Amino acid sequence: MQRVALVTGATSGIGLDLTRTLLRRGYAVVALSRRATARASLPAHERLVVQDGDVADPAAAARAVETALARFDGLDLVVNNAGIFLAKPFVDYTPEDLAALVATNLHGFVHVTQAALRAMLPRGRGHIVNIGTSLAAQPIAGVPSALPILIKGGIEAATRSLAIEHAALGIRVNTIAAGIIDTPMHAQGDPRALAQLSPAGRIGRPDEISAAVLYLDAAEFVSGEVLHVDGGAHAGRW
Ligand SMILES: NC(=O)c1ccc[n+]([C@@H]2O[C@H](COP(=O)([O-])OP(=O)(O)OC[C@H]3O[C@@H](n4cnc5c(N)ncnc54)[C@H](OP(=O)(O)O)[C@@H]3O)[C@@H](O)[C@H]2O)c1
Repeated sequence: MQRVALVTGATSGIGLDLTRTLLRRGYAVVALSRRATARASLPAHERLVVQDGDVADPAAAARAVETALARFDGLDLVVNNAGIFLAKPFVDYTPEDLAALVATNLHGFVHVTQAALRAMLPRGRGHIVNIGTSLAAQPIAGVPSALPILIKGGIEAATRSLAIEHAALGIRVNTIAAGIIDTPMHAQGDPRALAQLSPAGRIGRPDEISAAVLYLDAAEFVSGEVLHVDGGAHAGRW
């Protein structure tokens, strides 16, 4: 049976690769981002709806879920991927930085997850995957990022809490803790320096995160898991 997915932040980097991958695998997809239609990064497809919306807006989150139900009659997988990253010394974060990180990374997670659960609970099935960072488990000297980690690390804890809360209700919740992945997020970064942020000596590819999402979506006995996809970065020092 056709599975229906909602991917946030679906028009760039990890979310874009994931949306294309899910379409190739037969999923119907609602692809959400603030400037989704203007970006035009996704070609028209009969199993795809591209929708503009800010995950920080609860109405936009609810609209995306309603679209999945109205167009594809279900919602099986939600990937909380929309996110921003600001690395700087802790004392240099401004109130505007804090507000931006909380809006997209925290409020976005809450609004989309609540809207998704409201649709999934009456059906007694569903799967939520959050895209986190391996920096939450293994901070790296030279990449100070305590504010994004505060939120992404909190989502790791919430993954376990939500998994327990919903396990008997047919809903799974997992997180992928990604290492440094080659996306426009790092457009200004030095590729050689970034490669040293993984013991594998290279940065990851978006399709390596998509493969992990496909694995988790098929792994029906896996919930509350934080799956590190980072070339081993979380495992120790290198
Ligand atoms: N790349 C990495 O190395 C890495 C490592 C660990 C974790 N991650 C996480 O992976 C996720 C994706 O990262 P990426 O590297 O693929 O980023 P990216 O290339 O910068 O793409 C971010 C996507 O999110 C959308 N977006 C941003 N804010 C949004 C909002 N408030 N509401 C809706 N959509 C929003 C953007 O589109 P619009 O501008 O149109 O909204 C875009 O489609 C993020 O959560 C990030 O923290 C990335």
